[in-house]
Amino acid sequence: MAHPNLFEPYERGALTLPHRVVMAPLTRNRAVGTVPGEVNATYYAQRASAAILITEGTQPAAIGQGYLDTAGLHNDEQQAGWAQVAAAVRSAGDAKLMIQLMHAGRVAHPAYTGGETPVAPSAVRAEGQVWTPDGMADYVTPRALETDELATVREQYVDAARRAVAAGAHGVELHAANGYLLHQFLSENTNQRTDGYGTDVAGRTRFVLETVAAVADAIGAERVGIRLSPGHRFNDIAEENPRATYDALLRGLAEHDLLYVHVMETRNHAGYSTIAQARELWPGTLIGNASFAEEFDVAGADALVGDGAFDLVAFGRRFLANPDLPARLREGAELNEPDQSTFYGAIGGRGYTDYPTLVPSAAS
Ligand SMILES: Cc1cc2nc3c(=O)[nH]c(=O)nc-3n(C[C@H](O)[C@H](O)[C@H](O)COP(=O)(O)O)c2cc1C
Repeated sequence: MAHPNLFEPYERGALTLPHRVVMAPLTRNRAVGTVPGEVNATYYAQRASAAILITEGTQPAAIGQGYLDTAGLHNDEQQAGWAQVAAAVRSAGDAKLMIQLMHAGRVAHPAYTGGETPVAPSAVRAEGQVWTPDGMADYVTPRALETDELATVREQYVDAARRAVAAGAHGVELHAANGYLLHQFLSENTNQRTDGYGTDVAGRTRFVLETVAAVADAIGAERVGIRLSPGHRFNDIAEENPRATYDALLRGLAEHDLLYVHVMETRNHAGYSTIAQARELWPGTLIGNASFAEEFDVAGADALVGDGAFDLVAFGRRFLANPDLPARLREGAELNEPDQSTFYGAIGGRGYTDYPTLVPSAAS
């Protein structure tokens, strides 16, 4: 067997998995009108051999939508769409389906929020532009959330998490990485609050920890994961001292028996190994993922799992292009190459559900 460490069964707490290969969250912009449909169900069912299948970033509120045709989970129609996805995944494999809750915060855009001004910890505009149906557009200056609105935002995550479980998913992954809303609370340049939700490490980590606690309370900690990318400068984030921020955050997370913590290795931005930091401070299941700049090769990931650097590995682009990735890795088979030109976009199944498997599959 190729990559034997990736195929050691895994058991810890509520989690029993046949192997260690996880699908990383991938935005694909194919949930037409924000509602997952049949083509999305097919795509996820094709990938149901993942140990854990983490979905595309999904907005828990309309105001948190940053891109065209990203799925939502804040109304009944979207919930029914996700139920269709969950049923298809269940009938195709054993993957634990985790819906990633991604509130874009300041990098949402009025083109997608029904004209509403995006909300954020502080009224600090992100540098850069986003694609809209009218062409590339500058990010807008967001409106700073009032202190008494924070409970409402937390409730939006809680409501989406309840809907995820009601739809038949195992649980949710809170997206606190890559410069979206929760990461905006953690970073000094995007959080200039003086109301107890900013200023210092305790303040900047507070909203994230309160949200984790509220969601865990609502659906059970064993149904909640969280994704972190300490120091990652994506979406114009500039963290001054990621080590201090994430030491505190990880210590706070360790008080909850979460399903997992999922960390991107952002060493090239943070200046230290962010996976090693999490391993030291987070006592539970740790999922590791490459940074954009340093793609793990599979042999390297296998060795890191063997060394105990992390427990499970999340592959993004490889899973995108290889619906049967675990089988291919186990056999040491050749991998399909991902086609970047079809990563994002409402073009139905092309570059989405048409990547070939080694053995033709029923889900296709
Ligand atoms: C097309 C595409 C979409 C992505 N969408 C998301 C997303 O919705 N949420 C997220 O946390 N990361 C997202 N990422 C980051 C991936 O989860 C992953 O961290 C990155 O691709 C590096 O891992 P890889 O080398 O295995 O692909 C995306 C990456 C790609 C290529």
